[in-house]
Amino acid sequence: MGSVEIETQATTARVLEEKIRTRRAKVGIIGLGYVGLPLAVEFAKAGFNVTGIDLSDAKTAGVNAGNSYVGDVASATLAPLVHSGKLRATTDFSVIRDLDTINICVPTPLRKTKDPDMSYIVSACGEIAKYFHTGMLAILESTTYPGTTDEVVLPMLEQGGLKVGQDFFLCFSPERVDPGNPKYNTSNIPKVVGGVTPACSEMGRLFYAQALEKVVAVSSTQVAEMVKLLENTFRMINIGLANEIALMCDRMGINVWEVIDAAATKPFGFMPFYPGPGLGGHCIPIDPFYLSWKTKQAGIEARFIELAGYINGQMPHFVVDKIQNALNDHSKPVKGSHVHILGVAYKKNIEDVRESPALDIMLLLKRRGARVTYSDPHVPTLQLDGLKLAAGDIGNVAAADCAVIVTDHAGFDYPKIVEHAKLIVDTRNALKGITSDKIVRL
Ligand SMILES: NC(=O)c1ccc[n+]([C@@H]2O[C@H](COP(=O)([O-])OP(=O)(O)OC[C@H]3O[C@@H](n4cnc5c(N)ncnc54)[C@H](O)[C@@H]3O)[C@@H](O)[C@H]2O)c1
Repeated sequence: MGSVEIETQATTARVLEEKIRTRRAKVGIIGLGYVGLPLAVEFAKAGFNVTGIDLSDAKTAGVNAGNSYVGDVASATLAPLVHSGKLRATTDFSVIRDLDTINICVPTPLRKTKDPDMSYIVSACGEIAKYFHTGMLAILESTTYPGTTDEVVLPMLEQGGLKVGQDFFLCFSPERVDPGNPKYNTSNIPKVVGGVTPACSEMGRLFYAQALEKVVAVSSTQVAEMVKLLENTFRMINIGLANEIALMCDRMGINVWEVIDAAATKPFGFMPFYPGPGLGGHCIPIDPFYLSWKTKQAGIEARFIELAGYINGQMPHFVVDKIQNALNDHSKPVKGSHVHILGVAYKKNIEDVRESPALDIMLLLKRRGARVTYSDPHVPTLQLDGLKLAAGDIGNVAAADCAVIVTDHAGFDYPKIVEHAKLIVDTRNALKGITSDKIVRL
């Protein structure tokens, strides 16, 4: 490599560093969902000019009108950033010609076969590659299997002849956002970042340090990818253990919630996880299968993941059996009974119903002939088996043969629910401390 070439590379890095430090770097966020929109807002708040790119006209129009569709982003926060010109959204990828950085926050679902669906990442990178240019920093944030950034994204960005670590910089940074968490948000959750080369890691660290409180740089993209999968696999397996303990306790007539609360008084070596109606959301039920798919190629069966996946997947069936038994004890066959579901979001105080176990429970109940209604202060309408359902009011609790607490939203008035219901199945221990013959706990 000649001295002129080395000097040019150093200049490319220095120019980008300078733009980032002075917040003149033009930031692009691809995918304006639960992850991308809060990130766009943080960088706009930090003083950067941010352009969000999404395929959805409705989302880009919402952002440009200052209307947030993500629970953790208040329109009151979004609108001033849009009106001051710091944040805008578009469906046009050609704006990438003028951008300095790009964060990719597109979905990574599983196929029906539980194989990773890389199509969103590949499609986004295909568009980015058309307009990619010297001096850019690209960071993949979508949760994925170890190796994706180097094996899938890197070749697509290098196809125009640019060289990573010299002409452009590429990192992976897992997103750890916890929707509905009032204490931790995008800005105060430590951000792990790993680059393809040391220069890439350093550029990624510098970038996030401008807008987020703490950045943890790691040595490679694979380490950063694996960090996210360890975190979510840890959670999925421990929830699987709590669910299996709940099944055992149920068989033995022991209150599992009391057991866990008492065990949690141990000041070391124990961390409480809780059973429930099943896993939900875009992350915990899905991400570990990205890891098991990849490790299979290396000849290792991820047996903990498969086992926890099986146990967690049984929980909606267990809950429905519990409801059926409770109705039988009241001389009501499930067929023809009215069951009212309280909470359909996959976790409390949010509006997201992706992979929610409530949907499985409602479908299973319908298949057994029950008439099913629901209420949820965060979910006014719901698509179930091709039908659009509207949330009923809480008055349904009194009318129903059985009410089922599937999601323990803070907005429910639990003492009132107990007062009016004929029978309640509580899958979340939301009625902790309330004693009544009407209550059947998980
Ligand atoms: N939601 C969470 O709590 C969470 C937490 C951590 C990590 N993640 C991960 O972050 C990633 C994004 O998740 P999310 O919850 O924000 O998803 P989301 O569905 O809310 O948002 C993704 C957005 O990307 C857009 N999109 C899809 N394909 C595109 C393309 N080719 N070009 C541009 N935009 C495109 C969609 O229209 C959508 O607005 C996933 O990999 C997910 O696993 C999510």
